[in-house]
Amino acid sequence: MPASAPTSSLDFLDGRVLEDPYPVYEAMRRMGPAVYLERHGVWAIPGYGEVRSVLGASGVFGAEGQRALTPLAGTILPFDGEQHARLRRVLAHRLAPRAVARLQGQLEESARRLVAEHTPSGGLDAVVLAREMATSTVMNLMGLPDSTRVPVLNALTAAFTVPDLLGPPAAGVMIEFLAKAVSRSRVQGGSWMDTIFQAVDAGKLDEHEAIPLAAAYATAGIDATVLGLAGTIVQLAHHPEQWSQPREDRARAEAAFHEAVRLHAPIQGLGRFVMEAVDLDGVRLQAGERVWLLIGSAGRDPRRWGLTADVYNLRRPGADKHLSLGAGTHGCPGSHLTLMQARALLRALADGCTTLAPAGTPARAQSHILRGFTAAPIAISTVGWRNRPRRPALASPSEGPR
Ligand code: HEM
Repeated sequence: MPASAPTSSLDFLDGRVLEDPYPVYEAMRRMGPAVYLERHGVWAIPGYGEVRSVLGASGVFGAEGQRALTPLAGTILPFDGEQHARLRRVLAHRLAPRAVARLQGQLEESARRLVAEHTPSGGLDAVVLAREMATSTVMNLMGLPDSTRVPVLNALTAAFTVPDLLGPPAAGVMIEFLAKAVSRSRVQGGSWMDTIFQAVDAGKLDEHEAIPLAAAYATAGIDATVLGLAGTIVQLAHHPEQWSQPREDRARAEAAFHEAVRLHAPIQGLGRFVMEAVDLDGVRLQAGERVWLLIGSAGRDPRRWGLTADVYNLRRPGADKHLSLGAGTHGCPGSHLTLMQARALLRALADGCTTLAPAGTPARAQSHILRGFTAAPIAISTVGWRNRPRRPALASPSEGPR
């Protein structure tokens, strides 16, 4: 690292930073395109443009084993080059837009059932609703028996309490669980697990890779989706003027999700390592150095989003251009599925509930990678706008919960 480069002694794992990282992100963006974090031995990249360029330069920035700030490396396709492409190909067609479009009826039906189940008492927990939606979607697509839904929910709830949610604990819990629960005879024809075992039979995947690959998709597919869906409901509850949009025009549901994950990226940071020395807007990064892409900061960068970057606004032009679903070679393969779930759930809520309002302080997951809630009580009413419950004062009138 050159002596002139911006550096910071900040501890990114400090509880206060985890609670509210946005002032830190703002300070980092002012310091320069890359800031060396002395405590963690990585370059933090805070700006939208720079994060985007790094994600697009997979020949220069590698992903192998680089998913966390701590030594806990993640297990979600943590490879580069042909090894990564080979693994990713296995389920790619199952998550392509056309395949996901065929799931629309099934997801809408599931969302309607869940909303009906969760709303009769005048309140719901957005996290519980989102977790049921994401888990049943992924478990059904995986082709696992219904009896596995409760153990999977329990395993994931336990995994939510560990500090590095994308590291081995969450994926490890899932690998252990799937290794016990899955056998070829219990897997449904046409399911993702079936596709994975077919790839093994065709020699495209080794037998020992089958369960870790399934676990990677299940963990990534459930964890981040729960945070994204629940976070969207929380934002809408704090912004009744925005909630009126998907209520009046169901097509706005997608915008509600994009804005929520731009503002609070469920995955706040992504790790990479420098494969060959490179200049990043005037800061020289050397081969072998590590970078930490601040996705959560990129979503708030006023150079990309203007002076209203901190505001939740469903009419924001180009809101879907956020980087919260990644980009480039490792960009999220589940993005279409996630969007389809968001659309189905928000439309079912819009059909069933006239008002949403926060009903207490949500509990936040403590992680430097994942951002979102572990519980988020919401008051709902189905009786018309005039009778909507009074909302408690917000932390910030424009932004809602941090
Ligand atoms: C709100 C929901 C979601 C968010 C915010 C999200 C976010 C992301 C991000 C930022 C990445 C890029 C990682 C990187 O570049 O290092 C990623 C990758 C990935 N996501 Fe998602 N994701 C979501 C839903 C899903 C779903 C539903 C699935 C599966 C069904 C899924 C499976 C994966 C997998 C397997 C990868 C690794 C891809 C690779 O390395 O090639 N995600 N996701």
